Amino acid sequence: MTQSSIKLNLVNIDSVPSSSEISKILVVDDEKVIREILADFLTLEGFEVVTAPDGKAAVQVLKDNHFNMVISDLKMPNMGGLELLEYIQENHDNLLTVIMTGFGTVETAIEAMKKGAYDYILKPFKVEEVVHIVHRGMEKQRLISENVRLKEILSLHQLSEELQSTLSLDEVIESILSALIKNLKCDAVGLYLRTKSTGQFTLQRQYIDPQSSADVMAAALDIPLVVNEVKKNRFILAQNEEAHRFFLVVPSNLSSLAVTPLVARQEEIGVLTAFSCTNGFHFTIGQRKMMDILGSRSAAAIDNAELYGGLKQSFRQTIQALARALEAMDTYTAGHSDRVTLYSRIVAKQLHVSEDDLEIITQAAMLHDIGKLGCHTNLNKPGKLTDEEYEIFKQHPAYGKEILEPIEFLNNVIPGVEYHHERWDGKGYPTGLKGTEIPLVARILSVADAYDAMTSDRAYRKALTHANAVDEIKKFSGYQFDPTTAEAFLEGIEAYRQDCVRRNIPIPK
Ligand SMILES: [Fe+2]
Repeated sequence: MTQSSIKLNLVNIDSVPSSSEISKILVVDDEKVIREILADFLTLEGFEVVTAPDGKAAVQVLKDNHFNMVISDLKMPNMGGLELLEYIQENHDNLLTVIMTGFGTVETAIEAMKKGAYDYILKPFKVEEVVHIVHRGMEKQRLISENVRLKEILSLHQLSEELQSTLSLDEVIESILSALIKNLKCDAVGLYLRTKSTGQFTLQRQYIDPQSSADVMAAALDIPLVVNEVKKNRFILAQNEEAHRFFLVVPSNLSSLAVTPLVARQEEIGVLTAFSCTNGFHFTIGQRKMMDILGSRSAAAIDNAELYGGLKQSFRQTIQALARALEAMDTYTAGHSDRVTLYSRIVAKQLHVSEDDLEIITQAAMLHDIGKLGCHTNLNKPGKLTDEEYEIFKQHPAYGKEILEPIEFLNNVIPGVEYHHERWDGKGYPTGLKGTEIPLVARILSVADAYDAMTSDRAYRKALTHANAVDEIKKFSGYQFDPTTAEAFLEGIEAYRQDCVRRNIPIPK
């Protein structure tokens, strides 16, 4: 890490002020009487007024308080109005500054307006004139805030909709980071999740503005270290503020880093980060608040996606356990469920089924023969089955249905299990469905199952070669197999085998 000891002001995110209903005005003048007059009548007009005797004192007050407007004298000891204006322009978004000046310095007041002052008041002033300028300024500020708020609401609404539409952790993170970088307009944003065992925050994904300088890329590498350090205090860092309650080692090229916690079910599950290396960049109060809101919306979505991921994992493990239980009964078919799953997925992808359907096909393939658990006969005996045994064997798809029916979360896989021995020509079992009456999942399982059966040793015969099995599938396409599914299988299996050779990995069997 490029290390330097930079004094950074760390602003607790909890201290970000909420927008006050009463507009607040800071009056800055070295003449006590002017401060008092302005304070009195602006208070009567319904504003909350705070006063400061010079620019330096005003800067201190601005650091800890949110104001809508600053009315400042031009010439003051310690720090004049122009210097104060420059400070405000750099550090406070949407804070209007009105400069007060005597006749001799009108040019300077105009200069101040060019530098971003909202308006100027000539001394000696008339009360009505000041009130008019203040009200006009407040109205302008209200409209700007309204506009910003509308944009924020729109973007939060979009994010909420995106988050609601998915349970995939990847997609959730993608949506959050897109919203974050769009709203903060900084150099990079990142999302970290806490590893429960170590308590450390691990970077899940980082978005770096492609136009960024090498500085940003270098800082990005160091942010994970800084996050784990800063995180302990839940603070935002802003380099160009003077206070230094804390002293940290940070990348020297970092201008401003914001870290906001992701809290779900009272637990900190991660953090969002945003940073900039642009000189003078700082996160405004609005941006900090936005990040805070994004953080709170995101945390629940991430938590849900993680819970769902965990559930899916247990679901898969349950299915695998059931498939293993079956294979434990029948050593000749060891690995059969896994291979049928592999082949079924190859066909499904070749047919461009949806992600959800692919998941169902995978589960159905794992469990397609689960009904054999219900056949009280030795299906693994040497030699062919007797007619009576074969009749029992033919019950296994129906038994499979019966076993799975009481398990609600496995109901989606029943069609594959129940119909995987149906034939395209209607001569299959148990129901004799034909053509497209047979669910697609079952047509896929049928060809995958047949290929694996043919290319596996059985108690009563040796395995067929791949080429022979392919010939059989071609021969029975349109009779036993759905021609489209059979074709997809043949194309998919060839591509898969070539890929295995290219990657130097063993072809199953
Ligand atoms: Fe079967």
